[in-house]
Amino acid sequence: MKRTVSTPRTLRGSITPPGDKSISHRAAIFSSIADGTARITNFSPGGDCASTLRVLSNLGVRMERRRDGAGRSDSLTVYGAGMDGLRRPRGVLDAGNSGTTMRLMSGVLAGRPYRAVITGDASLRSRPMARIVEPLRLMGARVEAEGAGLRAPLVLEGGELHGIEYALPVASAQVKSALLLAGLRAEGCTVLHQPAASRDHTERMLAAMGAEAVTDGLTVSVRPGRLRAVDVQVPGDISSAAFWLVAAVTHPDAEVRVAGVGVNPTRSGIITVLRAMGADLRLENERLVAGEPVADLVARSSELRGVEVGGAMVPLVLDEIPVLAVAAALASGQTRIRDAAELRHKESDRISATVEWLTGAGVACEERDDGMVIRGGARLSGGTFTSRGDHRIAMALGVAGLVAASPVTVQDADVAGITYPGFWRDLDAISGRQGG
Ligand code: S3P
Repeated sequence: MKRTVSTPRTLRGSITPPGDKSISHRAAIFSSIADGTARITNFSPGGDCASTLRVLSNLGVRMERRRDGAGRSDSLTVYGAGMDGLRRPRGVLDAGNSGTTMRLMSGVLAGRPYRAVITGDASLRSRPMARIVEPLRLMGARVEAEGAGLRAPLVLEGGELHGIEYALPVASAQVKSALLLAGLRAEGCTVLHQPAASRDHTERMLAAMGAEAVTDGLTVSVRPGRLRAVDVQVPGDISSAAFWLVAAVTHPDAEVRVAGVGVNPTRSGIITVLRAMGADLRLENERLVAGEPVADLVARSSELRGVEVGGAMVPLVLDEIPVLAVAAALASGQTRIRDAAELRHKESDRISATVEWLTGAGVACEERDDGMVIRGGARLSGGTFTSRGDHRIAMALGVAGLVAASPVTVQDADVAGITYPGFWRDLDAISGRQGG
């Protein structure tokens, strides 16, 4: 599907983004290995979380999903199988496009007394898995990677798990979570030292479910133990909200409210960075929902200036960098993004994809090994661009269309459904168009 977006005169309205992808994956996976029944509300309607549910149901987990029809707020009941209740899978487990599904489920399946094979689409099969294969092997798991360079398909079969003390080579929440999940069934304590903080939803949820998961600065540890089912109300996804925040602060006549957004400090780097650029961005109705901070975000037209993003800030704004590039292109001065080589290992190489479309849109920018330099202040021209099959690139291009000098056509626009099936409908709504 192709979508063409042009600049509306005004951007106005209120949007409720879909449930957070990271928290939804965790709620479904952790509830599956817990004792008892959990009701999860506002479960992400995206394709990635559907991949997790497909894998869990192949492992015999009983779940009931109720959709609200508009694809916004699904509810899910998970009947926990307990720590040892997952059954031998039928055939190959398919994680689709979802790195979180593959990595977290590898932690769950490591050391089980049967063979499980997990694979994914071409994008996922090209992504690095050594980062989980190597430490899981150190924990005693038997894991093989059938793809070149320790890539998927992954084959997990038995092994006696024991805790390890391990320095994570990358600040990755997926790796941290995989090892914590394996640690729940290992003998002894698992201690992980992070190079920088990454999203901490796993630590929060495991602790809420009764696990001995303790965070001390950048060190996280877990001891073996069972989980107790708890109900989870999933906050709105800040990574989905980010598209509307950037659209509002770059459009000359905009005021957009994004309601019920998770603002966990390990996820809210986009707020910090946009404010550092001079954005008029406010948090209202701050509250705590199921152990996670939530707020309504109000963004208005702003005069932006360039910014430096690097170091410990990068993991906090990682998934938002493709759309942040739109703000950088329209800001005065230069924006430099560094220490972000991890972006090359996402659903696409997001450094190369972003620099390619920005260049095509007439923006002066340079690709660096670990990021990019964007010289802002010029026009952002329209044109036809590919998403490279990457949901966040497709949606960043949609936002570019809202503020570009001429229409933007996004090829493969439907990949937005990986995390945000209602994205194009919401874009029409805040542009004052219905069903365009
Ligand atoms: C995720 C962690 C991030 C992020 C991904 C979801 C998670 O990846 O890019 O979209 O749910 O744990 P890493 O922290 O592994 O880099």
